[in-house]
Amino acid sequence: MQFSPRWLALVLSLTISLLTMGFLSLVNNTFGVLVVGFSIAFSTSFILFYFTLQFFILGDINDAFSILEKLKKKDFKLAKKQISNLSAIQKLNEELYAYATNKQKEIDHLQQLAIYRREFLADVSHELKTPIFATQGFIETLLDGAVDDEEVRYKFLEKASRSLEGLNNLVEDLFTLSQMEAKMITMHPKLFMIEDLILEVFEQLEDKAYQRNISLIVKNHGVKDVFADRNRITQVITNLVNNAIKYGKNDGKVEVQIHHSPPQKVLVEVIDNGTGISEEHLDRIFERFYRVEKSRSKEKGGSGLGLAIVKHIVEAHNHKVNVQSKVNEGTIFSFKLDTKEQSPNFDVIS
Ligand SMILES: Nc1ncnc2c1ncn2[C@@H]1O[C@H](COP(=O)(O)OP(=O)(O)O)[C@@H](O)[C@H]1O
Ligand SMILES: [Mg+2]
Repeated sequence: MQFSPRWLALVLSLTISLLTMGFLSLVNNTFGVLVVGFSIAFSTSFILFYFTLQFFILGDINDAFSILEKLKKKDFKLAKKQISNLSAIQKLNEELYAYATNKQKEIDHLQQLAIYRREFLADVSHELKTPIFATQGFIETLLDGAVDDEEVRYKFLEKASRSLEGLNNLVEDLFTLSQMEAKMITMHPKLFMIEDLILEVFEQLEDKAYQRNISLIVKNHGVKDVFADRNRITQVITNLVNNAIKYGKNDGKVEVQIHHSPPQKVLVEVIDNGTGISEEHLDRIFERFYRVEKSRSKEKGGSGLGLAIVKHIVEAHNHKVNVQSKVNEGTIFSFKLDTKEQSPNFDVIS
């Protein structure tokens, strides 16, 4: 709805000039005097009403309406610009604008959470079904008679056990991820030798690497301590090295390089010469349950949550994970860490 100050001024000034003419006709009934009286009364009152309405009242009200229109269309930028040009009763407009913007943001956030929850639930149930059905299948085969054949029995029990292990990994990763997303995990940063941590991770994964004849190499360019949550960074490096082995080439290599990155940061790079990831997938691999090759990745036993967890942990340290990759050449995952306590919003618990 828009008020036109011109029409309102016209109606009001016409009324006033007609009244003036009425009074004038009581004093002097000459046509010329009446016309002049009408014209003067009309033009002065029109100008007065028009400008008063335009500049002090209706202009502001119309601006408020057009801001509301824009808020309805969620055009916050334009609405804000318009507000900076306003005056007088605009305090009210500004309050309204701030209130509406905050409410809209809350609604958007809640809507996003609802979508997120729905998708998460669908993904989780889908992911849980796979190992449960597989285990069920192996056990049923055993019950149907395979249990009498010693060789088959062993093979099927081993398969069932692997499926259950996958299920256990998935549930653990899910638990970590849900706690991180609910911001229920607090980082406990302290100073530690990053090279020692990398060697510990290598020790944990050397059997896996050995099976594919992949060499695990650490190249330290003079880095000693970093200031971070040791357990969480262990999880990050484990997930990245684990992927580098899984998606690496047989007889290939996985290298973890650590460099100083001035000022007071350390750059960690996990480099493999494996399958690589094509451009269109690079932006999405950090999403939960996203896999480049669905069947092949599942075969390799991943939960599809490894990189989502990596991203959360690195971001909780106020840094970002980067990835560069070339198909059939290899992939580099990198992130930085602090060497001292330096971020004011870093949650330190001793
Ligand atoms: N080093 C890597 N080389 C090639 N592809 C990778 C590498 N790391 C991750 N990916 C791709 O990113 C996807 C997501 O990784 P991740 O979240 O760890 O899940 P998962 O390993 O359980 O499948 C993997 O399924 C794989 O397709
Ligand atoms: Mg993984």
